[in-house]
Amino acid sequence: MPSRGWSNSLDLYGGRGAFIWAHIYTGTMDKFVIRGGNPLQGSIKISGAKNSALPCMAAAILTEDEVILENVPQVRDIETERKLLESMGAEVELGYGRAQHRTSIRCAVLSDPVAKYEIVKTMRASSLVLGPLIARTGMARVAMPGGCAIGGRPIDLHIKGLEAMGATILQEHGYLEARANRLKGAHIVFDKITVTGTEDLLMAAALADGESLFENCAREPEVVDLAALLRAMGARIEGAGTSTIHVRGVARLHGARHRINPDRIEAGTYLIAGAITGGDLHVEGCNPGHLGAVMGKLEQCGVKLDVSKESVRVRAGDRLSASDITTEEYPGFPTDMQAQFMALATQANGTSLVTENIFENRFMHVGELNRMGANITVQGRTATVRGGARLQSAAVMCSDLRASAALVLAALVADGESILDRVYHIDRGYEHLEEKLRGAGAQIRRMGEVFARR
Ligand code: EPZ
Repeated sequence: MPSRGWSNSLDLYGGRGAFIWAHIYTGTMDKFVIRGGNPLQGSIKISGAKNSALPCMAAAILTEDEVILENVPQVRDIETERKLLESMGAEVELGYGRAQHRTSIRCAVLSDPVAKYEIVKTMRASSLVLGPLIARTGMARVAMPGGCAIGGRPIDLHIKGLEAMGATILQEHGYLEARANRLKGAHIVFDKITVTGTEDLLMAAALADGESLFENCAREPEVVDLAALLRAMGARIEGAGTSTIHVRGVARLHGARHRINPDRIEAGTYLIAGAITGGDLHVEGCNPGHLGAVMGKLEQCGVKLDVSKESVRVRAGDRLSASDITTEEYPGFPTDMQAQFMALATQANGTSLVTENIFENRFMHVGELNRMGANITVQGRTATVRGGARLQSAAVMCSDLRASAALVLAALVADGESILDRVYHIDRGYEHLEEKLRGAGAQIRRMGEVFARR
């Protein structure tokens, strides 16, 4: 994980050396070395959901009181959000290593309500501060996130909704300049289902003057998690988790303590790790209720699942059968599990069709999987995965968070030792991935780029 200290050996290498040390110290040049062939056994504990923690951290902007979040995962995106909030004047203490990973955020003074491009460009979810900043301070200057590996990632629906609530938003020099005396409640029907769009407007409406009715909302568990925190802070919200959310704005919100939900995508990833390696693995501390579509699909493929209240035991069945998936908004099959399922499908008997409906460029893992011996072709939004591939170890490149997870899964079954480069993508959203996999019997280690002295 990125340490906070800069090396005092910058002079050793001069400018280039500083760049190298910066990368070593921040882990941005780390690689994973994975030797395939070990069935995963034992148990893996699931961490808090990154995609819940990010909006919940942004929600702390809505009050000058302290907000305490438990179970925040120690991942790079959380570190990025800490930097973003501190750059605006917040006091943030990430609670790694403390009991319950207790994180404290206090936005008593927001001296500089600006989300700078240097930070926003590394994490699109930075746009989650837009609504809270306008609601709390009446102004916001947020860098446009720009696209990322998986797509254009526009935020036009966030902007449209906030303008409907009375904000004036100009776009200039790559920044959104937003102003509002006080946001007013509004009736908004989202043109498209957007997770962070729903979350952004929910936070804005909590402090708006009057009532808001939002339709065609995202129903993801992360929206429900955020609404639970907002209600604990005094917000008046009904319907989170359904397509229609009703908010009655209040004048002020107070501090609260909230425990972040377990990460359903991390849990789904490790279920597939247990299945693809032919293991017998307990995925502990998850919420099976958030995994309906994923578990249903795995069982269709012949994977054996034993479901308890907070854990799922996964075992490979006698035969792994091909099956088709189409990604949809929750509760459909999640786009964040598409790459991981594709890795599993390379091992199935038969051909699987994988259709990606949410993002326009979320097949970055296909080329690298094929370099490992998979047989996948892409036509538009659908990938055809011919199963039964004997995957071979290779040097591969991580490109985005979930594509990288797919490469880890493939390397766990490939014969020989694979090298995964740019694992900082994985560090963005998987807490201690190599320790968790090693604890279940995988042969995986992290290799920092160590440069011999000149
Ligand atoms: C959230 O991204 C998640 N990120 C993503 O997880 C996840 O893949 C995605 O939801 C879909 O489930 C966080 O919660 C931090 P969207 P978000 O707005 O909110 C279009 C991961 O791997 N759209 O629901 O950015 C958009 O282009 C990440 O953890 C607009 O057109 O996704 C996409 O096609 C990756 N205009 C679709 O909607 C907008 O204003 C869904 O995007 C907003 C979105």
